[in-house]
Amino acid sequence: MQEILERISVQVADAFEAAGYDRKLGRVTVSNRPDLCEYQCNGAMAGAKTYHKAPFMIADEVADRLSGNAMFASVESVKPGFLNIRISGDFLADYANQMAEDRERLGLEKEAYPRSIIVDYGGPNVAKPLHVGHLRSAIIGEAVKRITRFAGNEVLGDIHLGDWGLQMGLIITELHERRPDLVYFDADYQGAYPEEAPFTISELEEIYPCASGKSKEDEAYHAAAMQATNELQQGRRGYRALLDHILRVSVTDLKRNYENLQVCFDLWKGESDAQLYIPAMVEKMKQDGFAYFSEGALVVDVAEKSDTKEMPPCMILKSDGSSLYNTTDLATLVMREELYQPQEIIYVVDKRQELHFTQCFRTARKTGIVPEDTRLIFLGFGTMNGRDGKPFKTRDGGVMRLENLLADVNAKMLEKILAGGHMEEEEARKTAGVVGLAALKYGDLSNQASKDYVFDLDRFTSAEGNTGPYILYTIVRIKSILKRYEEENSLDGLQMLSPASSSEKELMQLAARFGDNFRIAYEELAPHKLCAYIYDLSNAFNRFYHETKILTEENKAQKSSWIALLALTRRILEKCIDLLGFEAPERM
Ligand code: ARG
Repeated sequence: MQEILERISVQVADAFEAAGYDRKLGRVTVSNRPDLCEYQCNGAMAGAKTYHKAPFMIADEVADRLSGNAMFASVESVKPGFLNIRISGDFLADYANQMAEDRERLGLEKEAYPRSIIVDYGGPNVAKPLHVGHLRSAIIGEAVKRITRFAGNEVLGDIHLGDWGLQMGLIITELHERRPDLVYFDADYQGAYPEEAPFTISELEEIYPCASGKSKEDEAYHAAAMQATNELQQGRRGYRALLDHILRVSVTDLKRNYENLQVCFDLWKGESDAQLYIPAMVEKMKQDGFAYFSEGALVVDVAEKSDTKEMPPCMILKSDGSSLYNTTDLATLVMREELYQPQEIIYVVDKRQELHFTQCFRTARKTGIVPEDTRLIFLGFGTMNGRDGKPFKTRDGGVMRLENLLADVNAKMLEKILAGGHMEEEEARKTAGVVGLAALKYGDLSNQASKDYVFDLDRFTSAEGNTGPYILYTIVRIKSILKRYEEENSLDGLQMLSPASSSEKELMQLAARFGDNFRIAYEELAPHKLCAYIYDLSNAFNRFYHETKILTEENKAQKSSWIALLALTRRILEKCIDLLGFEAPERM
């Protein structure tokens, strides 16, 4: 069904047209003065110049045409030329009832022209532990994936593992030092390699930082790691076998971690999968005259006249012929084009990588790797900081591991739940896990992605204010009322009546605007707007709830109308948190 703002706008536009004006002037917005009206239209102000008329005269004519329209409770023309609009309770209830009938989509229409979209997010580096830097990509990317998918598009989430490059050479080198007798290092070995990896995940996680430290101090060690990387890239058998082990062990661990975050990828492709596309891609760039040698390196110019900042050429191959991060991302585009032909790719990556993506996008377009109408979108996010305003660290200043961060949040939540004193330890633990994840995700998603934000454990886990737990409390409260009602009645077939109070009308209005708010969050790829919406909706519910004795209401039709409104509110809240990537517990 049409979004409610659209429905209202159509009526107002009709009135503008009928009075002889451009119907575009009839666009209606939610009022920013809720004390005066619910919706407003400023079209008369905008049209005054074109029609050489005082705006209030236009507004008067339009208001006249709308009087008697059943959609409105009142349409007032207010000097100097605003239209202040209130909608009728019957129209509103009717709209809300229609939404409620559509349990799955709450009236939300699917994209008329669905696109195939890839969301490139997560981007963890194999063999290095997941840290908070990867947290934002996972959280925001997951929400973007779910939102674009719910809109009706064909969406694939790709983790794009960082599984290529020096870190692999480092691990191989360190392993060689420790266990030179392993069969993987015997260049003459022709047989099959063992099924089992020669290390566990914890060993792997210790090996990498150790090797990385050594390579910074010891030049010969660094050279050996470079050499190993190179041989791996050239396809040395034993090293490829080790890479496969590293990948398997690492991916198992990553899957567990992402599962705990309720983040789930459709594709587990990595940088290494793109490598085989590089030679042909580079050859073509050269042949077509786009790539040329500059100081030994192969580059493509990407500067454009309109650039205000310096735009260095995109480097495709280093002077020693080896490939770079750019090369891998471009080859990944070649691969995606071949396998999926996406119409849109959304990269959810730290905003400090913006230059890299601008260079890649321009190169991809210029050299024809992607068709002209493919949308390449860089959704850059800011840093999660500690209370000191610096990037979030552990207490002793180290890199915070994602697992530990999540454990901290859950422990804090558990402490709060147990302090409430009405839950046994076991249930409290489970609940803390669910609520903790919501606290963490909502704390992140409620900020505009591009901005830095401060990770504040106390605030994020608070049940009051604009937090995940507050939203969940609201849902749990509604669920418990519905459950009590259901003990004696059925929830099926309930109808909302025209609202009886202003707090009820406010709640119904907000519920009815689910579609409008979803659309904005979707079109702008802005999960924080969905957060702002459910915060408003929760506030409206809580106001209504405090003013209304629902379960003790004597009038049956009235009571079931309120219950229907609660059921709709619950469904909207649950739909939205699902889109944001978390869920509500049964009790709290
Ligand atoms: N692995 C990279 C990092 O940790 C992020 C990958 C982002 N995605 C991409 N297509 N480059 O910085």
